[in-house]
Amino acid sequence: MSSILVRKNKQLWVEQVCLQELAVSFETPFYTYSNDAIKNNFNAYKTALAGQKHLICYAVKANSNIAILQTLVQLGSGFDIVSQGELERVLMAGGDPKKIVFSGVGKSDQEMRRALEIGILCFNIESEAELILLNKISAEMEILAPISVRVNPDIDAKTHPYIATGLKESKFGIDAAEARQIYLRAAKMDNVRIVGIDCHIGSQLTETKPFENALSCLLELIQDLNRNGIMLEHIDVGGGLGVRYRDETPPSVEAYTQKLMELAGARREMLIFEPGRSIVANAGFLVTSVQFVKRNGSKRFAICDAAMNDMLRPSLYGSFLDIQPVCLRQNEPAHFYDIVGPICETGDFLGYERELSIVQGDLLCVCDAGAYGFSMSSNYNSRPRAPELMISGQDVHVVRERETIDDLVRGEHLILKTEK
Ligand code: LLP
Repeated sequence: MSSILVRKNKQLWVEQVCLQELAVSFETPFYTYSNDAIKNNFNAYKTALAGQKHLICYAVKANSNIAILQTLVQLGSGFDIVSQGELERVLMAGGDPKKIVFSGVGKSDQEMRRALEIGILCFNIESEAELILLNKISAEMEILAPISVRVNPDIDAKTHPYIATGLKESKFGIDAAEARQIYLRAAKMDNVRIVGIDCHIGSQLTETKPFENALSCLLELIQDLNRNGIMLEHIDVGGGLGVRYRDETPPSVEAYTQKLMELAGARREMLIFEPGRSIVANAGFLVTSVQFVKRNGSKRFAICDAAMNDMLRPSLYGSFLDIQPVCLRQNEPAHFYDIVGPICETGDFLGYERELSIVQGDLLCVCDAGAYGFSMSSNYNSRPRAPELMISGQDVHVVRERETIDDLVRGEHLILKTEK
């Protein structure tokens, strides 16, 4: 069980809030976060990197709730964004534009303009075509665009294929030899300024070796660039540090950052990290009620009020998330249940074959749901999205309300009858 959750007298607690009691005030399903856990996770990076010139750019996609961004702004975080939507969220949360890096293979004209206008730290360039467009737009706007090139080091991150981004078959980044050429071209452009180099090889990595190999690839290229008179201000090593969902043994933040700092040695460039999952995953929980218990032959199902639209990771990646009964029962026999939602797809599940003693109406807590949980949620099956609650000590803040039916159809129109 996650160390953020504590069981006291059969009940689950997050900080000083008892989840069973929380579910009296708030209908399920809901997401809830521990503010302390987010702060501790961020501070682990900060402490590990003390003494090293660095910037921690939280990857907004992991969880983009503006209250979470606000918490991180207060701790001095920068942000890794991939859309204008994320950019505006960071600004709403009070984020400093000078601490924003903009990643992504398909930045639009409009997105580039907005990012130039507010003066972000860096565009992480993922293709020559993107560089050419940015150079054109920055010329029109008469603003020098700060850039780094995202290198694809062709390294196997040993993670789920959907979230491995550093192999040459993936759409991300530019291979090292071509990246070199692009740097040389960028150096001759009038409206871009080379400030860094970047890579991100994947997510939920549980070993340090692939990170080290990726950084070594960057360092080799940097030396080559330096020989050609191209000096950099930062080296962005991306995000991707894994967390423990079941029995994974990812390196600690300290061990991971230490290895990379050792490799970078006494280089003068600032090191940028783009962690997402390792900041928020274990800080979030999805609380759901067992609507019905059902048997089909020998199989037992716990049909919950949360579904794949609320938490897509099990359905999309086959991910394992620990599921705990909110209140322990002692007198019910335990059985193996598939924990499923009400959505009309066989792939709608939160967990398979979980041994639980539960009855209809019980609450379940889906653990480690803070990263890529709410941020990947949808309205599939026309289900309003769940609210998000932030726990801070004994206080509970509603940081996102439950969607209503009006929210569901906002912007939709019936076709008006026209006279013939
Ligand atoms: N930087 C870039 C450029 C990224 O693409 C990502 C994640 C990160 C940083 C943050 O990586 P993290 O530290 O969170 O591993 N939906 C998937 C994960 C997709 C990750 C996409 N990129 C999941 O639920 O496992």
